[in-house]
Amino acid sequence: MIGTGYVGLTTALMLCELNHQVVCIDTDTAKLKQLKSNRIPFHEPGLEELLNRHLSRGSLSFTSDTGQGVRESDILFITVGTPSKSDGSTDLSQIKNVAETIGSNQNGYKVVVNKSTAPVGTCEKVHRWILERQPRKLPVDVVCNPEFLREGKALYDALHPDRVVIGAENGKAARFIRNLYDAISCPKMMTGLRTAELIKYSANAFLAMKISFINEIGRLCDAHGVDVTDVATGIGLDSRIGSRFLKAGIGWGGSCFPKDLASLVHMFEQADLSPRILEAVRQVNDTQVEYYLRQLEERLGDVRGKTISILGIAFKPDTDDIREAPAIKVIQALHKKGAFLKAYDPVVFIHRAPTGLPVTLCSEMSETFEDSDCIFLLTEWKNFLHFDWKSHRHRMRTPLIIDGRNALDQNALTQYGYIYYGIGRVYSKLASL
Ligand code: UDX
Repeated sequence: MIGTGYVGLTTALMLCELNHQVVCIDTDTAKLKQLKSNRIPFHEPGLEELLNRHLSRGSLSFTSDTGQGVRESDILFITVGTPSKSDGSTDLSQIKNVAETIGSNQNGYKVVVNKSTAPVGTCEKVHRWILERQPRKLPVDVVCNPEFLREGKALYDALHPDRVVIGAENGKAARFIRNLYDAISCPKMMTGLRTAELIKYSANAFLAMKISFINEIGRLCDAHGVDVTDVATGIGLDSRIGSRFLKAGIGWGGSCFPKDLASLVHMFEQADLSPRILEAVRQVNDTQVEYYLRQLEERLGDVRGKTISILGIAFKPDTDDIREAPAIKVIQALHKKGAFLKAYDPVVFIHRAPTGLPVTLCSEMSETFEDSDCIFLLTEWKNFLHFDWKSHRHRMRTPLIIDGRNALDQNALTQYGYIYYGIGRVYSKLASL
């Protein structure tokens, strides 16, 4: 497994659970030291326990010597970063570097599996980069096996996938990789390299589209006094639509959707095509923070000099990842408008303190209420939902709650005397009876 980020580590541990022997390779020696002493360098539930188990069983090992790792393995997974460049294209330098190292250290037949999300045609490039560096002509097959792991649920998703997609140009290599997943019962789709690459991007774009769609409907619900959660339930019961990824809120963030959509749009442009739906999906998301800020200002007036408390910084619960997190955009926008900001997140500040954010950090959720003019919930951490909201209302200067995730109990909060706003949420007198 070349690359020990969250995809690499999760995949490695999943393969160990399926009784395979895995060597994790990374050039970051500080990170390897941490991993060898049983510590995961990021917050991902369940990983540390498995790391412990497989290190002590000897089914998992770590090395910083990529050449040695290549020579000693039959199958090489590439799980390195593929960040976005400023024009939306994908930076393939880490993949290229790994492919060249594989080529120059090849000592027999290898199957190279790319799991890093990379544009259509990347696996073919990987094949070429390997061949160019081989000391002598040796057989090598490249397979595309995209990951569909959600942060915070990565281990569960790795062990219980909806499907495994295997793209290859050679049936023998494809079957070799399919056999790795024998113990997992789910559809295994065998397809071409380019198809597998595009499946990954299309899946993420479709999920982002569902969210932007319901967010747009949420705005119309606000205008008409209709509850968006009921609309989502009503359409989601149609099995052609499905109920998941229809939770309206402040919008999608994270390390995948924004980057993958930018890359997909770039692929369209390269093919001289205009991606109209994808542009709209991004536009709705890009304007969602502004939409919420208008709602806030309608209720609170000018925010200059007011104290606004942010609940949750991570882009979603059960992770400490703040990449493209809506909370960061909200903090920056409110700071620019002259608001005074406090923030609390149960995990982010412990593991990866964001530097340079113009906020006063609270060490307890209850501190965010003190003299606050608004509580703005941006990550639906479970402990926020089960908090004793009733007893803390009096500590706020203005009891306004902006629920950026439609996660709180509007009826209960309204009864406690809060002013509540969630996109497309309607106070139900019936529900409170
Ligand atoms: C996503 C894909 O789900 C995963 O398959 C892929 O491999 C990587 O990208 P991830 O980014 O970890 O995973 O999180 P996900 O749970 O998909 O949520 C993405 C964003 O959408 C989050 O900001 C989340 O808060 C938001 N979201 C999700 C909504 O706003 N509404 C929803 O109904 C679902």
